[in-house]
Amino acid sequence: MNFTGAHILSTNQFQRQDVERIFAVADEMEPYALRKKVTRVLEGAILGNMFFEASTRTRVSFGSAFNLLGGEVRETAGFENSALVKGESLQDTARILSGFSDVICMRHPVAGSVADFASASRVPVLNGGDGANEHPTQALLDLYTIRRELAGTGGRSIDGLKIAMIGDLRHGRTVHSLGRLLSLYDNIEVVLISPEELTLPPSIIEHMRSAGAKVSISHELTNSIRDVDIVYSTRIQEERFTSKEDADLYRGKFRLNQAIYTEFCQPNTVIMHPLPRDSRADANELDSDLDDNPNLAIFRQADNGVVVRMALFALVLDVADKIHEFSYDVRWYNSRQV
Ligand code: NCD
Repeated sequence: MNFTGAHILSTNQFQRQDVERIFAVADEMEPYALRKKVTRVLEGAILGNMFFEASTRTRVSFGSAFNLLGGEVRETAGFENSALVKGESLQDTARILSGFSDVICMRHPVAGSVADFASASRVPVLNGGDGANEHPTQALLDLYTIRRELAGTGGRSIDGLKIAMIGDLRHGRTVHSLGRLLSLYDNIEVVLISPEELTLPPSIIEHMRSAGAKVSISHELTNSIRDVDIVYSTRIQEERFTSKEDADLYRGKFRLNQAIYTEFCQPNTVIMHPLPRDSRADANELDSDLDDNPNLAIFRQADNGVVVRMALFALVLDVADKIHEFSYDVRWYNSRQV
């Protein structure tokens, strides 16, 4: 694909070589994300960071990624602080904000809303999550994490990957986007572990199967994670249910802790989660007793969001080959290097 000026709305947009291009640029971003070097390549550019749904890491990692490239961030968080509460359409908001910004990131609770917004935007729009539909930048950082973790444990590659996706696969937009992205690779095996009512949407299962992936469905955790490379746990997406009581029916069904990991997983199975993990007692899908497990990749996964988002900004704003030209060494004390 031609990245310059492109909206990033869905993982359906990518071919395998596009994903590999993003990952190659993300690798180049590491010295900047680790604060070894500074680049000013986007000096003068403005990111409009528009989050109309709860977010910590996606919002801040988009903003940090843009800052790390030398750009400025203008942020709106919450409907109540925007003119959408006055009845302004998404398209009008896009017409206005794209006059102020060079690129826009947006999260919104309605499926398809970010594409509607993008249709009226004069600048590239990156989907930070549209309802239960898609979360393409999360899927890219997830796959980037898978690639790095597998390379670190025995030089395995994404082709031939066996992954268990666990939890609310019906409403979880991260697994929707990741399932499509994995379909670009060969000999993928996916075990979908969820309550019966919360299985992955049939269209995505079909998409994966027609791309050659082997997909199986399970409603039980322990025996289904015996020989997978990755367990990808997810939260019950309470905000997509009609009531908290309805969500409560499904909470805490597939808990992974160190004892279960030791008994059922392979010694190098990598544990992932898009986060936030729900650590309340009735949920606790990833127990904190896993925190010392070296295969718990969740915090490395969140860190990887910065380099992947830096790569996307660099590509859509067409500066991927100029990053080092505008760079210098950091001057301040850097605890990451101690
Ligand atoms: C996810 C999301 O918002 O879809 N979070 C994230 O962006 N890392 C997953 C979730 O909220 O459960």
